[in-house]
Amino acid sequence: MAMFPPALPHVLVECLTSPGDVVYDPFAGRGTSPFEACLRNRAGLGSDANPLAVVLTGAKVDPPTRTELQRRLNELSAEAQVASIAKEPAEIKMLFSRRTLGQLVWLKSELNLRRRADRFLMAVLLGSLHRNASVSGRPLGLTVAMPNTFAMSPGYVERYIEHHRLQPPAVDVFDFLKSKIDSVTLPDQPFKRGRAWRADASRSGRWPKHYDPAKLVVSSPPYLEVIKYGKYNWIRLWLLGMSPRGVDDALFASGSVPLYLEFMKRALSRTSEDMREDGIACFVIGDVLRGEYDLNLAERVADQCVPDDLRVMAIVADQIPLQHKVTRIWGDGRGDATRTDRLLILGARHARVRSLKPVRWELR
Ligand SMILES: C[S@@+](CC[C@H](N)C(=O)[O-])C[C@H]1O[C@@H](n2cnc3c(N)ncnc32)[C@H](O)[C@@H]1O
Repeated sequence: MAMFPPALPHVLVECLTSPGDVVYDPFAGRGTSPFEACLRNRAGLGSDANPLAVVLTGAKVDPPTRTELQRRLNELSAEAQVASIAKEPAEIKMLFSRRTLGQLVWLKSELNLRRRADRFLMAVLLGSLHRNASVSGRPLGLTVAMPNTFAMSPGYVERYIEHHRLQPPAVDVFDFLKSKIDSVTLPDQPFKRGRAWRADASRSGRWPKHYDPAKLVVSSPPYLEVIKYGKYNWIRLWLLGMSPRGVDDALFASGSVPLYLEFMKRALSRTSEDMREDGIACFVIGDVLRGEYDLNLAERVADQCVPDDLRVMAIVADQIPLQHKVTRIWGDGRGDATRTDRLLILGARHARVRSLKPVRWELR
């Protein structure tokens, strides 16, 4: 959810940085910016207050080699056990076949997310845990068929399963992982590795060792509305051993303009500490429909939240075609929430921007 099109960081990374530079996203989400940076041999760094975002971003910017990954998967398959599922909550048990769940419970305790290969396997599981069904009706993920992007509430899923008499698929998790990793592209040349870590963007935090300050920040802060990333990801968070409510409590989510501006003020000031003297920060901030009017939030942030060590270089308005936005799945009303996205471009003391190429949103 709420991912921005890869074309945006692609263009910004290409135009505003050189190979070897550090690109940072303090609201990394699924890691679109840091990943685009790594694809262009820049160091992609990302932090987020949501542990799910940290695993996804970490897997993308610091992936294992294929040999490492295959070795680890073989090791896990050889040791694999089907753990007891007796203590798992009923809302989890209804989703999986007994054996699949037993394998997942065992993997949950075995995977060490500090290790590259383990983190990557976890990210693969998180990404394909619940998916739609094939045309023949066979679920494509590990649970009964449900939307890939977010999880409906447990009560809704329970009623849906009963109504449609759904049976969870009998999937061997290790065979599933093997077929998934056979189809992913892993780097076969050395490249500048990145990092992902958990941090609240509005509070002082650590910067990873051995990385210079950021030449470029490309980010999209939380929207001015209450989006419960934890709640909508309750199944993935179960796999990570985290509570959805605990995750939501750690995230900024509010529809209040004053609270949003206060949060952004702290976040911009914090981010500027991690930037080079010629660093540039680009924040995607969507207009918000308030009553009959569009509130130009980027302009408000530019007026009220920019710290002394940064200056406003530009606000670029862009109309992202609705068909390229994830919010389209909620229907037109929700898609309207950010019909015009604006790119707020801030520069540190010695920052210069020559020109930016037009962004082709359909670029993948
Ligand atoms: C609009 S999404 C970013 C999506 C990202 N650009 C992508 O392409 O996936 C906003 C992100 O901000 C994170 N977030 C919310 N409050 C936060 C906070 N206080 N500190 C850091 N991250 C936060 C959310 O977890 C979410 O991943």
